[in-house]
Amino acid sequence: MATVKIGIIGLGFMGSTHWRIYEAMRGAKIVALADVEPAKRRGDVSAVVANIGGGDNSKPLDTTGVSVYENALDLIADPSVDVVDICVPTARHTDLVCAALAAGKHVFCEKPLCRTAAEVKRIVQAAKKAKGFLNIGLCVRAWPEYRAAWEYFKSGKAGKMLSATFKRISPGVDGNSWQNWYMDGAISGGALLDLHVHDTDQINYFFGKPKAVVSHGANVLSKNGGIDHVVTIYDYGDGRLVTAEGGWEQSKGATFEMSFTIVCEKATLKLDSTGLNIFLKNGKKLTPKLDVKAGPTGWHQELKYFVGCVAKGVEPVKYQTIDSVSDTMKIVFAEEKSVASGKAVKI
Ligand SMILES: NC(=O)c1ccc[n+]([C@@H]2O[C@H](COP(=O)([O-])OP(=O)(O)OC[C@H]3O[C@@H](n4cnc5c(N)ncnc54)[C@H](O)[C@@H]3O)[C@@H](O)[C@H]2O)c1
Repeated sequence: MATVKIGIIGLGFMGSTHWRIYEAMRGAKIVALADVEPAKRRGDVSAVVANIGGGDNSKPLDTTGVSVYENALDLIADPSVDVVDICVPTARHTDLVCAALAAGKHVFCEKPLCRTAAEVKRIVQAAKKAKGFLNIGLCVRAWPEYRAAWEYFKSGKAGKMLSATFKRISPGVDGNSWQNWYMDGAISGGALLDLHVHDTDQINYFFGKPKAVVSHGANVLSKNGGIDHVVTIYDYGDGRLVTAEGGWEQSKGATFEMSFTIVCEKATLKLDSTGLNIFLKNGKKLTPKLDVKAGPTGWHQELKYFVGCVAKGVEPVKYQTIDSVSDTMKIVFAEEKSVASGKAVKI
């Protein structure tokens, strides 16, 4: 199979994480890099801070033989690039995704898809016209524990879902990002759009779109109204109770928590600090074997899969379609509206 040539735009936490994954991946080669910061263009990622995972940022990345650009559009125009991998702040996604798709490239763009509902429409239109493939880094769909739970649930062995709760609480992110963009609600959408979107997406992925959402949120640290902590009830209109909570206002150094409990007719699926366990009605406990062939995280899984699809010319639909991503964005923007209005919002 031909080597897939990658251009990465934005070398912060996610860009440097993707960089290390591609460096170790057979069949992928990083050929170009674009970043507005001179230090990043030299591979110096010493200022990058991670909330979870990430590598040793004290050593510079090896940019030997890589074409380096200040302007992302120059990387998009580079004929040697097959895949444009976009890891810049969220409010910059739409223009770059649309430009890269219009240039005939395959595009992997970090989550969330974009900052506003109007932008979702632009990206969906561009993706439907494009020759190239588009996947969004909704990595939790590919995260080994969540994937194993999803496979068990979809197999029907657990039976109907009765109630579910999801949680994602990060250590404080103030000061962690380029120009502190996480703390600007106009750019990041706060923890609601940046962090909690993973659980909104899981709820959509597991159970489909709810009929309505009711959300409460707190603006604790962010400017421009960013919601730093959110709690949502997803109303399926049939008595099942689904909730999710996300926040990023803890002290720095506090542990990162991602967890869920999905109660079904025949089993309870539970991810907590002990890992993923499935508790059957008869009292037996199953601990599913995780598929970590491509690597230990959802980032490894999703990138390996996307590069493999590009190499083979096969549409990458294992984890997502643009319509399912667009549905997740409809739900999360309804949550944003519900926080602002204090009322339930129909999907
Ligand atoms: N999938 C996940 O688990 C996960 C985790 C964290 C962040 N993210 C997402 O990844 C994206 C990037 O977040 P991050 O944490 O890496 O941010 P970051 O602040 O660490 O890095 C952003 C990088 O983009 C560069 N940049 C900014 N504007 C640019 C432009 N116009 N052209 C080129 N470079 C530019 C900055 O110099 C910086 O190097 C966001 O969309 C975020 O939501 C995803």
